[in-house]
Amino acid sequence: MGGVTDVAPAAPTRVIFLGPPGAGKGTQAARLAVEWQFARISTGDMLRDAIAKGTPLGREAAPIMERGELVPDGLLLGLIRDRIRQADCASGYVLDGFPRTLPQAEGLEAMVGNADFFVFDIEVPRAELMRRLSGRRWCPTCQSTYHVDTSPPTRKWLCDWDSTPLVQREDDKETVVARRLAEYDERTRPLIQYYQGRSHFKFHRIDGNRAPDAVFGELKSILEAGR
Ligand code: AP5
Repeated sequence: MGGVTDVAPAAPTRVIFLGPPGAGKGTQAARLAVEWQFARISTGDMLRDAIAKGTPLGREAAPIMERGELVPDGLLLGLIRDRIRQADCASGYVLDGFPRTLPQAEGLEAMVGNADFFVFDIEVPRAELMRRLSGRRWCPTCQSTYHVDTSPPTRKWLCDWDSTPLVQREDDKETVVARRLAEYDERTRPLIQYYQGRSHFKFHRIDGNRAPDAVFGELKSILEAGR
């Protein structure tokens, strides 16, 4: 007969990534999700998927994203509410691109109560952000991300995972990037101060202007230390 274990299940680990477009949130969130077996929740990917499928959400979001503006809070809160209830989020999840406004941050807290989160604010100089975004290439099938100089695919210009031809994201064009950066400064950057002042959020500023492995090493050591 099996005995009753007295080992409590580990508390789920929840992570929020802040940082401007091109800071490396998606790159790091994907690695964390694989290594720690967390669910990765990228609101940008979810919206692009909705656009590709032509759902009502996708039709509403498409013109807003093309302009580089933020999609209305109510739509994002509905998406996240449904997603974090799914079984794969039970042991932990990484939020990549959410929350991005104060109402989204408050809405998240209303959903999860006093749950603990790690908050990683990845900072990268503006010129480097522009370099990364202009060189980013993207797989429309599996949403993997590459860079023409720093992380090209094995075969030019096909996805390593499914051989789909890689494309440039429409919102990585220069004028749209400028609008996305302005939206970040006006509406998302204030969340840094918000999270620094809240006890359930372990806030860490991360220097993202380093090789991906160096950034990942720091994130990993923070999570392992639980601080
Ligand atoms: P979203 O898809 O979330 O885009 P974003 O936040 O602008 O972030 P990016 O995907 O551009 O950059 P990233 O930080 O993930 O960098 P990445 O790892 O790819 O959102 C798109 C749109 O959807 C928004 O504009 C908005 O309209 C809408 N939306 C989404 N969420 C929303 C929300 N919550 N509320 C309202 N609207 C929402 O890296 C970039 C490049 O750099 C890659 O080529 C990569 O290979 C390279 N790279 C990464 N790390 C490094 C490194 N350390 N060194 C060198 N190169 C690197």
